[in-house]
Amino acid sequence: MQIAVDGPAASGKSSVAAEVAKKLGYLYFDTGIMYRAATLAAIQSGIDLADEAACTQLAEKINIEVGPASIDDGRQADVVLDGQDVTWQIRQAKVDAGVSQISAYAKVRELMVAQQRRIGEKGNIIMAGRDIGTVVLPNAPIKIYLTASVEARAQRRHYEALKRGQNSHYEDVLAAMRQRDHTDSSRATSPLRPADDAIIINTTHLQQPQAIAKMYGIIASYIAE
Ligand code: CDP
Repeated sequence: MQIAVDGPAASGKSSVAAEVAKKLGYLYFDTGIMYRAATLAAIQSGIDLADEAACTQLAEKINIEVGPASIDDGRQADVVLDGQDVTWQIRQAKVDAGVSQISAYAKVRELMVAQQRRIGEKGNIIMAGRDIGTVVLPNAPIKIYLTASVEARAQRRHYEALKRGQNSHYEDVLAAMRQRDHTDSSRATSPLRPADDAIIINTTHLQQPQAIAKMYGIIASYIAE
């Protein structure tokens, strides 16, 4: 069983889909981690993120490993980039700001998608991202598209940052979110959009437990059929 979950930033993909996966005993795999790790690698190497050839070359070289959380610090998974634990570094604002640029490069996507398909083949998985239902796992029997107003999503990210003790300003988070939505939805390769056969869940006015119940209900009724 493969379940594709797509949607814009902070629509609830990680918080909702990860809980649903736990309830089902499925693996949860967040593909955004891979684009974030590639972006961090480029920043650390001092590469100009506008340099597509250099970013692609780097993406071919790096090794990204995602494994079960080994530290109890709120993380969903360990993210290891070339042997270095970068789980929290990939959540920095400078990665947020650069990730849409790198993830628009066709060759970078090809590399990531190939790895994601290998992971998806194992089955009993909820895979989350932007293009899972449309490109990575187009034959997934269940596709869910999570969405919410940009203001609600910015508010969530703002609170998350404050909770982590980071300095955060709502207006800045909102502007950055609008920018990332625009770049992700307007890129030529695999733009963010719901697959034609996706079920849409709008989480603007849903608390997390309600959103979890809704997604779980959709999946459980499909499995029971
Ligand atoms: O967690 P958040 O929703 O903020 O974003 P993410 O899922 O970590 O993804 C970060 C960025 O990676 C997105 O804004 C996209 O630019 C890119 N991405 C993508 O292009 N395709 C995916 N399957 C997953 C992420």
